Amino acid sequence: LRIGALASGGGTNLQAIIDHCRDGKLDAEIVLVISNNPDAGALERASRAGIAVRCIDHRQFAGREAFDAALVQALREAEVDLVILAGFMRIITPVFVDAFPHRIMNIHPALLPAFPGLHVQRKALEYGVRFAGCTVHFVDTGTDTGPIIIQAVVPVHDDDSEETLSARILEQEHQIYPRAIQLFAEGRLRVEGRRVLVDRSAP
Ligand code: GRF
Repeated sequence: LRIGALASGGGTNLQAIIDHCRDGKLDAEIVLVISNNPDAGALERASRAGIAVRCIDHRQFAGREAFDAALVQALREAEVDLVILAGFMRIITPVFVDAFPHRIMNIHPALLPAFPGLHVQRKALEYGVRFAGCTVHFVDTGTDTGPIIIQAVVPVHDDDSEETLSARILEQEHQIYPRAIQLFAEGRLRVEGRRVLVDRSAP
């Protein structure tokens, strides 16, 4: 399975997937990493792993659609089968989503549909939830609204800070994202309306 990854930040989720591929735990290969941010740590992590990298700076495009068209072109040239967003901080438009139907995944550090958007670990703390977590979902034209593939739950401790809770969630992110990709690689995910059905029969 050929993966194209989009990242804007440090790339610890990308690194987890790179490591899983390297260790033969994922029937997949990341063939291209794109960032809109030339300083993204994710680009360094990809380069260190010998993965092709591209910086496509959204500020150089007239609008969101033109930027998305450039992303789609780069991903098509790399002949990717699956696109993963890993800390990608741009809203993507139907131009992008329609180019890869049910072939774009995202990881969100909250139990969707609770806490879509940004700073969600802090929002969970402020809300006083007893459990938080993370979600891997297919990307649709909404924001953090696509069909959910896998979720993981973590307890919230009374003495948690945004940092301690975020770290506990991130540990789970690094486990469920590779797991979701492997299920996709094995052809075990079937989308029926809003639901993603997982075929867990023996291989
Ligand atoms: C993580 O919380 C992830 O859920 C969100 O961006 C944060 C940083 O991810 N998408 P990474 O370390 O850049 O993978």
